[in-house]
Order: sequence, then structure tokens, then C-alpha cells
Amino acid sequence: AEKIIIDTDPGQDDALAILLALASPELEILGITAAAGNVPLTLTEKNIRKICELAGRTDIKVFAGCDKPMEGALVTAEYVHGWTGIDGATLPDPTMPLQEKHAVDFIIDTMMAEAEGTVTICTLGPLTNLGTALTKAPEIAKRIRRIVSMGGGLFEGGNITPAAEFNIYVDPKAAKIAFGCGAPVVILPLDVTHKVLTTKPRVAAFRDFGTPVGDAVAGWLEYFERFDVEKYGSEGGPLHDPNVIAYLLKPELYAGRQCNVEVETASELTKGMTVADWWGVTDRPKNALFMGKVDADGFFALLTERLATLR
Ligand code: BDR
Ligand code: CA
Repeated sequence: AEKIIIDTDPGQDDALAILLALASPELEILGITAAAGNVPLTLTEKNIRKICELAGRTDIKVFAGCDKPMEGALVTAEYVHGWTGIDGATLPDPTMPLQEKHAVDFIIDTMMAEAEGTVTICTLGPLTNLGTALTKAPEIAKRIRRIVSMGGGLFEGGNITPAAEFNIYVDPKAAKIAFGCGAPVVILPLDVTHKVLTTKPRVAAFRDFGTPVGDAVAGWLEYFERFDVEKYGSEGGPLHDPNVIAYLLKPELYAGRQCNVEVETASELTKGMTVADWWGVTDRPKNALFMGKVDADGFFALLTERLATLR
């Protein structure tokens, strides 16, 4: 199995990504680390534990990370995700423990302890924990198998500003450090996630499980969809973060280009923009595989089939 660390800020779509990973024997989850993003850290770490418990996976190690970006104040997105971050399904307060170690130290210690090139880091929120780990212990960069991130946008523009996608906007410095660290990077940007829409029949398929997981997932998607339905019409809202996990399981669902990706950190106007050299007009290093296309039906078939195996 591929060893992974999931760094996440649940978030309804983060919740689906975590569930997909939990349902996939091809992946070995070494730990799940909480980022501050959609909602503050005290909620995201709790949400991760709620989601693990929903799936009956109290064995998963959960770590709390940084409570604010590497620079500046935290920007949250309650207007998208609700006050809890995972509005749409009510889950009981978690009873499984939060690990004592800080997420940054967990990332560093794991990367040093595991064999070089064997651990994949999945980021589903602002990249603060990874950026901080790479700053504190730059020697982990060459030990990372790959970084697979939901973030950014190119032809699709941004969703928090005209230029920037939320995860990168919240902590552009961390994203810049992570994408430039030298490890292989795969980016699932808005160009992909805006093609993965939660249509009514797709949501109904989760409800039809008749399981606690199916009900929670349908509830989340019905809630989450509300926000973007204005933009996407009757086709439903975009589903972002599970694309990271789906890419690990079935890379053939995705197509993109290996190209240079830089993150804007200075300009007020375009802060957090992912400047991807899609057309190869510079000779800057091709540091990331930037995805542009997805087989949305194939994605939902995978997601539905896997989540149906949970309780
Ligand atoms: C990203 O921002 C969050 O709102 C979602 O969970 C996703 O990670 C999309 O821009
Ligand atoms: Ca997220």
C-alpha cells in the first residue's frame, strides 16, 4: 500500500476525501493532520476525529497543526461550509483522542523515520503545516515520495479572489515553499474540480446506501452544493478535495501537464495566484504536474463504489 499523510481542514469535501482514503486498501494512512482553513483549527481537528469515528476508524492517528498561516491572519470560509465546517450532517462529538504531538513534528518525524521516497503527502487545505515542516527541517524534502495538493487554478481563475483559489490564498508562502521544495508535486486545481459536479442523481446514489456514511455524505453535498448552485446552475456544486485521493487510486482519470508553477506572494491584487506555465513560454523548472481534465463519471463511480463499503 502507498503510505500517505493527509493534511486537511474539513470541510464537507475534505470529509469525502478522508472517507475515500479510509475506504481504500491501496492506501496506508500514517496520520491525518489538521490545518486551519475553512474553519479554525479547534474545529478542523475535531471534525477529522468525527469523520474517522463515523467510519468506525478510531485507530487513525490525528494531529493538530498550526492555527494560523506562516504570515498574516487566518482567513476562513464559514460562508461556504457553515459554522462547524461540516454543516449538513450532525455527527456526535468525538471520543477518540487527539495525538499530543504537533502536526509539524509528526510530518518531520515520519518523513525521517520512513524509508526515503515512500511517503506521499496529500494536502486538502492551506499548506501551512507542510510549509512549516519544510522550513524547520528542509532535509525532509528529498525524502517525500510526492506532494499531491488540491489548490490553485489557471484557466478557471480563482474562487476567493478573481486570481486566487482559497487554499493557496490563505497561505501563499507555505504553498510557495511546498511547490518549490524539489519533491514531485501534483496539483488538482479548480480547472479539474469545477468539472466534478454534484448533480442530483450523483447525490442520490449516496443517499441510497441507507448507511450512516451515505446519509452524512448526501447531507453534506446537499448543504455544500447550495453555495455554488448560483454559479453552476442545476448541475450542482464542484467537489474539490476527493480528487486528490482519487488521483492516487486511479491516475488515469486525470490529464494535465508537467509545467512550472509559481505562487504569487506579494501583490495585493493577485496574492495566492498559481502562475502555471501551461504553454511553456519560460525555461523555468517544470516543478509540478498541473491537472486540467478529469473523467467526472469515472470519478463518481469510484467514489460511490468505495464509500458504499463503509458503514
Ligand atoms: C478548497 O477550499 C475549501 O473550501 C475546500 O475544502 C477546498 O479544499 C477549494 O477552493
Ligand atoms: Ca479543504
